[in-house]
Amino acid sequence: MAALGCMAAPQLDKRDYTISWEEAYAKAEKLVSKMSLEQKAVLPTGVGDQQGFCEGYTAGVPGLFPPLCLNDGPLGLRRASGVSVQVTALNAAASFDRKLIRERGVNMGEEFRGKGVNVQLGPGMNLMRAPRAGRNWEMGTEDPFLMGVLAAETIKGVQSQGVMSVAKHFIGNEQELNRHLYSTEMDDRTMHELYLWPFARSVEAGVVSVMCSYNQVNGTYACEDDYTLNKVLKGELGFKGYVMSDWWATHSTDKSAMHGMDMSMPGDANADSITGGGLWYGKNLTDAVKDGRVDEDRVNDMALRIAAAWYKVGQDKHFPELQFDFYNVSNTPIVDVQGEHRKNIRALGAASAVLLRNKDNILPLQTSIKKLAVIGSDAGPDPDGLNPCQDNSCANGTLAQGWGSGSASFPYKITPLDGLEFRTPSSVEIVSHLDDWDTKSAAEVAKDADIALVFANSNSGEEYITVAGNVGDRNNMSLWHNGDNLIKAVADANENTVVVIHSVGAIDMPWIDHPNIKALVFAGLPGQETGNSLADVLYGDVNPSGRLTYTIAKQESDYSANISSSMVVKYSEGMLVGYRHFDAKDIDPLFEFGYGLSYTQFKYSDLKINAKDDTVKVSAKVKNTGERDGAEIVQLYLGFPESAGEPPKNLRGFEKVEIGRGKSATVEMQLSKTELSIWNTVKQAWEIPRGTFTVYVGASSRDIRLHDTFDI
Ligand code: NOJ
Repeated sequence: MAALGCMAAPQLDKRDYTISWEEAYAKAEKLVSKMSLEQKAVLPTGVGDQQGFCEGYTAGVPGLFPPLCLNDGPLGLRRASGVSVQVTALNAAASFDRKLIRERGVNMGEEFRGKGVNVQLGPGMNLMRAPRAGRNWEMGTEDPFLMGVLAAETIKGVQSQGVMSVAKHFIGNEQELNRHLYSTEMDDRTMHELYLWPFARSVEAGVVSVMCSYNQVNGTYACEDDYTLNKVLKGELGFKGYVMSDWWATHSTDKSAMHGMDMSMPGDANADSITGGGLWYGKNLTDAVKDGRVDEDRVNDMALRIAAAWYKVGQDKHFPELQFDFYNVSNTPIVDVQGEHRKNIRALGAASAVLLRNKDNILPLQTSIKKLAVIGSDAGPDPDGLNPCQDNSCANGTLAQGWGSGSASFPYKITPLDGLEFRTPSSVEIVSHLDDWDTKSAAEVAKDADIALVFANSNSGEEYITVAGNVGDRNNMSLWHNGDNLIKAVADANENTVVVIHSVGAIDMPWIDHPNIKALVFAGLPGQETGNSLADVLYGDVNPSGRLTYTIAKQESDYSANISSSMVVKYSEGMLVGYRHFDAKDIDPLFEFGYGLSYTQFKYSDLKINAKDDTVKVSAKVKNTGERDGAEIVQLYLGFPESAGEPPKNLRGFEKVEIGRGKSATVEMQLSKTELSIWNTVKQAWEIPRGTFTVYVGASSRDIRLHDTFDI
């Protein structure tokens, strides 16, 4: 559809467009049976990088199958105009709020659909293994169970709107350094119980595509690895959709085809290219069939999988035409697909803010104060404009997403200063100082304010862009832009200092014991509504309930893994990643996984466990004993029988419950076979170990309020 100027958001109904795999395959079989070998080979073949607006395209078979547009990324349509920048996956995870996460997925699905984009290249689900890994913020957490919930809810939401989701990056892509070169070495059990887990939950959620990653897995390129693609993903997990390569992650024709890769991306514009980074599929694929190097059945299978995926999300019926437009390109048609999505973004931003300290109940801010100081460039706008650099790589002003293919162009950005100015009553004077380096003036401004809010951030991204010397992964765990000195200067000057951090993950906090730092808020990377979300929490319009999705260590050497410069990245810590390691080695973290405060308190009681066959029902009573309504994130950690050789505690359930002041709620959680099982490497099967299990129910991985055992 061509249009000039700004169009109103299309009226998008919220019906679920998906159908079952059985129905989808029945339709796909009919369709593919009409295609010649050459036509079938069109479906798995990319036509080159950015041959138009989309990141990737397939060509389509006239009269039979349309060209497909594939585009990033996991928080919104990359490089486009008229789209939303959702909260990052990091924040979605920190909300522990299934409903808001699902709604975020639906909203992204609506936006991709509204632009006519067939495939959303997301969600990402590599675990936060190494705290410095550049794309941690695109993924969300160190815990596979939480990642699995995040992935499944997102996929269900996105695909309900008729857009294909892509679970990425399969598998072992937990750092940026040397990502095209290194080989990840992990043992079978670690792979199954940690890194595969979110992909397994994605397959159960009906994901139609999986992206194989750049790295090698135990010595074989992930995109031509028979074991992980054919045996594990398509065999064990029963994945019925198609495997696409990450961009230029294909290294062969025959091997990739026979070992399970179904779509080569981005392919190459030169359809006859045989050498170099050229077209591995297309003509090379049909030649390989004719030479007997690749079975024709495999090409049938690729085409079937892709066509079935397309039918599964209902793209055969009324899928909008492509109406993509780049951000900032003038005279291009703009279709605005944002709808009311800002509401979910604001709500999730507030629901994901993690309150780590609140001495003397300094928060929520009282409207009776006279003067509020707002300090630090992270509270304000980027002086160079809204989207001044490629893929959000400038990193000045408040940080609301990281950089790389997982970023999108802001339609607007409510900075913390904006948000506070909107919300603060006129009786309160706001003074601000956005220069991070002039700490003397910052202290002056902070000095006689009733409360000083000081902002700082830490950024990271994808390796194809280097920002301030960081090639994707972080060079260190320090705050950027002189953050530590700024915080210290403000805290020295004002005894009511509140620190707000926007960060891609854990950071070093050399100032943490400063007595004047009364409150600490980890706000993550909350997308375009960042300032409104923060003001909602600081003023108590929303009672904080966000929780850390990763461990913050006292010192970096306490973590079990870091970025490796070796070409063999050994996951020698096995299953002891994040809190699993801290628990097993009895190391005190600074702030543990699952931690976060509220403006009210909750009391836990009445743990009940009902274990029957393969299902264990757990319930507990939670009472809001404080002065305000609030939400609690009730967490269930499972301790396996000792003989199982598991880490001490494993998150296996959580529930977010809203409880009015003085009221109680009974929270029920269920452990099914999946949550009770471990991977038996000898039998190559999931099994429930026999013996005594411990159920830990609490407010964080270290704040266990109730526990009891059951036997299987
Ligand atoms: C490489 C990234 O790893 C992947 O996540 C992204 O979808 C593709 N580039 C396409 O931009």
